[in-house]
Amino acid sequence: MALWGGRFSQAADQRFKHFNDSLRFDYRLARQDIIGSIAWSKALVTVNVLSHDEQQKLEHALNELLSLVQQDPLQILQSDAEDIHSWVEQKLIEKVGDLGKKLHTGRSRNDQSTTDLKLWCKDQIQQLILAINHLRQSLVITAEQHQQAIMPGYTHLQRAQPITFAHWCLAYYEMLTRDESRLQDTLKRLDISPLGSGALAGTAYPMDREQLAKWLGFASATNNSLDAVSDRDHVLELLNDASIGMIHLSRFAEDLIIFNSGEADFVELSDRVTSGSSLMPQKKNPDALELIRGKVGRVVGALTGALTTLKGLPLAYNKDLQEDKEHLFDALDTWHECLDMAALVLEDIKINYANCQEAAKQGYSNATELADYLVAKGIPFREAHHIVGEAVVSAIAKQKALEELTLDELKVFSTVIDNDVYPILSLHSCLAKRSAKGGVSTEQVKSAIDRAKQQLSI
Ligand code: ARG
Repeated sequence: MALWGGRFSQAADQRFKHFNDSLRFDYRLARQDIIGSIAWSKALVTVNVLSHDEQQKLEHALNELLSLVQQDPLQILQSDAEDIHSWVEQKLIEKVGDLGKKLHTGRSRNDQSTTDLKLWCKDQIQQLILAINHLRQSLVITAEQHQQAIMPGYTHLQRAQPITFAHWCLAYYEMLTRDESRLQDTLKRLDISPLGSGALAGTAYPMDREQLAKWLGFASATNNSLDAVSDRDHVLELLNDASIGMIHLSRFAEDLIIFNSGEADFVELSDRVTSGSSLMPQKKNPDALELIRGKVGRVVGALTGALTTLKGLPLAYNKDLQEDKEHLFDALDTWHECLDMAALVLEDIKINYANCQEAAKQGYSNATELADYLVAKGIPFREAHHIVGEAVVSAIAKQKALEELTLDELKVFSTVIDNDVYPILSLHSCLAKRSAKGGVSTEQVKSAIDRAKQQLSI
């Protein structure tokens, strides 16, 4: 029986009922709905709708319902209730009879559903922060282990300058640090309780909504009831946080897929996160990473979907708003799963030091060093750049690296070049030179690792 039966003489068409019902996905808000209901029962005592004893009975029954739900959340799906709010109310009435019918006084499912979702978002943010921090930790530990792994750094996917695997890991650490701080920002803005906004114009019972907000663990209560029941900024912000986070993960995945390719062979992924081909026995495919890269589509799709649902929606509550949940649930579940999977990939990744170093030596990634050497000998950079360009062309023709050219061969391009050029062209010298903050020198990478460990308290 629907909560709103009185006005209707005909039952809903089954197809419409299925179309309209949200229990099949909002059952996930059971805990939040029960906690919100307990707080509401307390508020009803302050406005003399419930006696202290009645409130205690309701609270007790609601707590019993909560432990039942926690044991087996899927049992909720057996019911044909319209949504989680109707389900909780139905169960409460089954337990305590007519007293249960008093609970909805002064409340609407409009303020209830957004309160539940905000409580759920707060909880999810905590879970996501844990998962992000776990991956940040994996990145730092992996960086610490591979400070000596010299590999090529790329621009335009062309070998550009040597870096280390540690420096690469720490780049993703920075992105994940911003992802975490974005969630903290979102949390601050959403930590405001809509409960007591009624259907749209505010509750008709003069309660202390700030107190009610505190009971629920919110920092404060919303200022405007029309806005409160129809605001879904927090959903958009979380979907945006998830989209940016997933874009970071997809770049991480793509880099590793390239590093793992037969062409690069810089890393080897563990059997635990790869799969074989049904036809080609030699194959070991980076499926975990490909799925991380691929799933960014559904998360960005969820953001686009939610933005589109909200566009042009008149105040205040409209049923369109029920569309907020599936997008959000799917996107946040996906993000969480991908964070865990990325950490799993790092757990036993192997770095092929010899191949990484060999590749770093190729591709004239020390050409900038030769230009800087000429600058130090008094040649203006633009000219030095041109000279080195010519030297590279000649080295390519001779199939040699720059450091393999003899001094006579080098002097053809500039007479200032001397024997002291050779140490400058070594990979270690290339790295050591980048010693300003954020650079790839051993000391800078070491201090970045120390800073990260301090941030994570590890
Ligand atoms: N299931 C609904 C939702 O998720 C609850 C609010 C229903 N309110 C209403 N006036 N029909 O938004």
